[in-house]
Amino acid sequence: LKLAILISGRGSNMEALLRAAEDPAYPAQPVLVASNRPDAKGLETAASAGIATASVDHKIYGKDREAFERALDTELEKAGTEIIALAGFMRVLTPWFVGKWQGRMVNIHPSLLPKYKGLHTHQRALDAGDTEAGATVHWVSPGVDDGEIIQQARLPILPGDTADSLAARLLPVEHKLYPEALAKACATLQASNS
Ligand code: GRF
Repeated sequence: LKLAILISGRGSNMEALLRAAEDPAYPAQPVLVASNRPDAKGLETAASAGIATASVDHKIYGKDREAFERALDTELEKAGTEIIALAGFMRVLTPWFVGKWQGRMVNIHPSLLPKYKGLHTHQRALDAGDTEAGATVHWVSPGVDDGEIIQQARLPILPGDTADSLAARLLPVEHKLYPEALAKACATLQASNS
């Protein structure tokens, strides 16, 4: 399946997906990496890996989320996108965009959903006295971080952990989780297409 990856920053999860897709047997082929921030470091990483990139600056569209999304959608369609992976993409999507791509769009979220939707997941896990943290890859549905779970990875919280130490230990776990979960999502989508 032709894969577009949407990022807003560093793009380390995107990089993990690009690496997995170097295997010809991987079910997704990256055709586009797009960012809503023109200065996202991940755009450079993608370009040096030879992947087409697009930057659609949400600031140009002000409060008009749908106008931003229509511009993004044009890039996605031009690239022939069949499945979208959100990877550190920090824009809330409108029902229009989610509806259009529903069943063909996945996200990675740094918590064990349904716990801690939204931001500051690690601090919230620490504040709650949780003994484990983790990451979730899920289908994107209209509610934020609310769609059906595809796969999760867990990580023990250690004494002395901070939000930063937890995020740092979780990152390599995410990098292993996301390619596996995306492969699963592709299998589901291919089965429903056939
Ligand atoms: C990751 O922790 C991801 O779970 C969250 O944002 C972070 C993005 O990091 N949604 P990167 O841009 O993939 O390096």
